[in-house]
Amino acid sequence: MCGIYGYTGYRNAVKIAIEGLKKLEYRGYDSAGIAVLEDGTITFAKQRGKVAELEAVSNTLSNDARVAIAHTRWATHGKPSEINAHPHLDTGNTLALVHNGIIENHNELRSMLQQKGVKFVSDTDTEVVAHLVSHFYSGNLLEAIRESLKLLRGAFSIALIHRDMPGQIVAFAHQAPLAVGLGKDEAFVSSDPNIFSPYTREVLYIGNGEIVVAHKDKIELFNANLERIDRKLETLTSISSDVSKGDFAHYTLKEIFEQPTSLLAAINGHFINEYGTANFQGLTLSSSDLLSVQRILILACGTSWHAGFLATYLLEDLARIPTQVEISSEYRYKNPVVVPGTLVIAISQSGETADTIAAVRELKAKGAWILAICNVESSTLTREADNTLYLHAGPEIGVCSTKAFTSQFVVLALFALQMARMRHLSKIEGQEFLNAINALPNQVAKVLDIAPGIAQLAKKYAHFDNFFFLGRRYMYPTAMEGALKLKEISYINANAYAAGEMKHGPIALISDNCPTVAFCANKQTYEKFISNLMEVKARSGPILAIAEEGCEGLEGIADDVIIVPKTLDELAAIPSSVAAQLFAYYIALCRGADIDQPRNLAKSVTVE
Ligand code: AGP
Repeated sequence: MCGIYGYTGYRNAVKIAIEGLKKLEYRGYDSAGIAVLEDGTITFAKQRGKVAELEAVSNTLSNDARVAIAHTRWATHGKPSEINAHPHLDTGNTLALVHNGIIENHNELRSMLQQKGVKFVSDTDTEVVAHLVSHFYSGNLLEAIRESLKLLRGAFSIALIHRDMPGQIVAFAHQAPLAVGLGKDEAFVSSDPNIFSPYTREVLYIGNGEIVVAHKDKIELFNANLERIDRKLETLTSISSDVSKGDFAHYTLKEIFEQPTSLLAAINGHFINEYGTANFQGLTLSSSDLLSVQRILILACGTSWHAGFLATYLLEDLARIPTQVEISSEYRYKNPVVVPGTLVIAISQSGETADTIAAVRELKAKGAWILAICNVESSTLTREADNTLYLHAGPEIGVCSTKAFTSQFVVLALFALQMARMRHLSKIEGQEFLNAINALPNQVAKVLDIAPGIAQLAKKYAHFDNFFFLGRRYMYPTAMEGALKLKEISYINANAYAAGEMKHGPIALISDNCPTVAFCANKQTYEKFISNLMEVKARSGPILAIAEEGCEGLEGIADDVIIVPKTLDELAAIPSSVAAQLFAYYIALCRGADIDQPRNLAKSVTVE
C-alpha cells in the first residue's frame, strides 16, 4: 500500500507535495519521491526512507514548478531503495508516474516490453506502466492510457505527468482509491481526499477504468472508451485536522492517553439511560430490520478483527444472536453463503483495508446489507457500505492501533446492547450494562495513572524475545490484541493462546526464558485460569498478571501483577487492553524501536 499525491495550480508544487506526503505516510514509509513538470521538462527527486529524507533533498527541484506528482511507498515488488522509489519514468523522461497498488501481470508485460528493446532500471511493477504508456503514446496520452489499461491486471491507482501536457495531471484507477479535489485555480489528486481537504472539499471519486485529467481550473473525466463523463463534485464532510504529538514522545503514546476522551466520543449521544439501551442516529436500519436480524457476520483484519472477535462473545451472550467473525483476507476467497436475515458488520479504522473492502464487495454482490464501523469519513469502505457507525476517535496516526480498538469495541458493545434490549434484556439489566459502559472512560484514566509503574515493569521484561499472552473467554481476544501490540512495535515474538489450549502443545515452549502475560479479568473462568497459570509456574515460566482489583490467589504464582479497575466480564477487555498497550509501548521504548512507524508496516493496508 502506498500513497499517491498530485498538485497543479498556483502554489509551490514541491512544497504542497511534501506537505501532502507527510500526511500520507500512514500508507507506507519505505521511500518517497516527487516529479515536477516545468517548461516541458520533467525533473524528480526520490529517496529511500521517510518523507523527511526526501524533503532534505527536495531543494534540487525548482520552487517555480506548479505541477507535481508525489509518492510515499510501502514496498510490494522490489526492496525499499532509491532506484525502486517512485516516481518512475519512461526511457526518454517524457512522462513520470506514481502508483498505489499491484500490477499482477507485471512480469509478462516487462518481458513483452524488453523484447521491444525497453531497458528497465528498477525491480518494480510500477516501472512497467511507465514504459507501457510510453510505448503506446503517439501524440494522444489518453489513447495511450486506454490501450495500456486493456493490458494491466491488478488493483492500482496511478497519477501521471507528461511533458506534452503542461499544467495537467492525468490519473486512472482500478479497484484502488483515487480522489480529485478542485479548488480555486488549483486541483489535487490523492489516494485519500482528507489530505487536500484543508484546501478544497470539492471532490470527485474516480471509478474503475475511468481516466481523469486534472487542470488547475477544471476536471475532465472519461470512461475506458474515452467518452466524457459528467459527474458532479461531492463535498467532503470532514476536514483533516492537523494533528501533532503535543508533549508526547510518540503519536502512539498520545493516542493511548487519549482513550478516556475517545471512549467518551464513542459513547456520548449513543445511549438512552431512561430505557437502558443504545441509540445510533446514524443507523439507518429500521427497528423491524434490526429485529429481523437472525445472524451476524463480522469482517475485519488485524486489531479490528480482534475487536470483532470480542464482539462475537458479546453479541451471543447479550443479544443471543449467532455471530461469526472472519478474517477478510481469507473470507474474500470463500464462496460465501448469505442466508436471509444476515447482517454484515465490516470493521476498519482506516476504511481503506483492501481485503476488507474486497470481502464487502463480494458480499454486496450476493445481496448482503453492510454496516461499517470506521474512523475515517469519506474512506472507501464508508462509500461501499450501506451504513456506517463512526468512532469519532480523531485521527489515529500511530501505526499500531490503540484508541480505535477500544472505541470499536465500545461501539460494538452499545450495538449489542441495543439488539439485546430489542429482544430479551430488561430495562434494569440494560441500565446496569450502560452504567458499566459509562464507567469505562474513568476506569481507563485510572490505568493511565499507573503508567509509570508499568514503565518500570517493562524494563524488567524488555530483554525477552519470546512471550506467551494467555486468556480465557473475553480475555482470549484481549490477549491476542495485547500480543499484536508487542509484536508490532517492539518486534518481539508474542504468541496469544486460549489458556485452556496450552496443555495441547504450546506449553512445551514454557521456560524461564519465555514469560507469560496473563489476562486474568474474567470472573467466570478465573479459578480455571489460575490452574493454567500454576501449570506455567510449575515449568519455571515467569508470569506478569493483568488482574482486577480485589482478585485473589495470584500470590506465589504471578511474579508481577498490574491491577486494573473491576468491570463486567463483557467489558473487561477495555481496561486490560490499555494496560497491555502501555506495557508494549514501554518495552518498545526500552528496545529503541521506531514506535510510530514500525519497520515493514503501514497504517493502512491498501493492497491484498
Ligand atoms: C493494528 O495495530 C495494525 N496496525 C493492523 O493490524 C490493523 O488493525 C489492520 O491492518 C486493520 O486496519 P483497519 O482497521 O484500518 O482496517
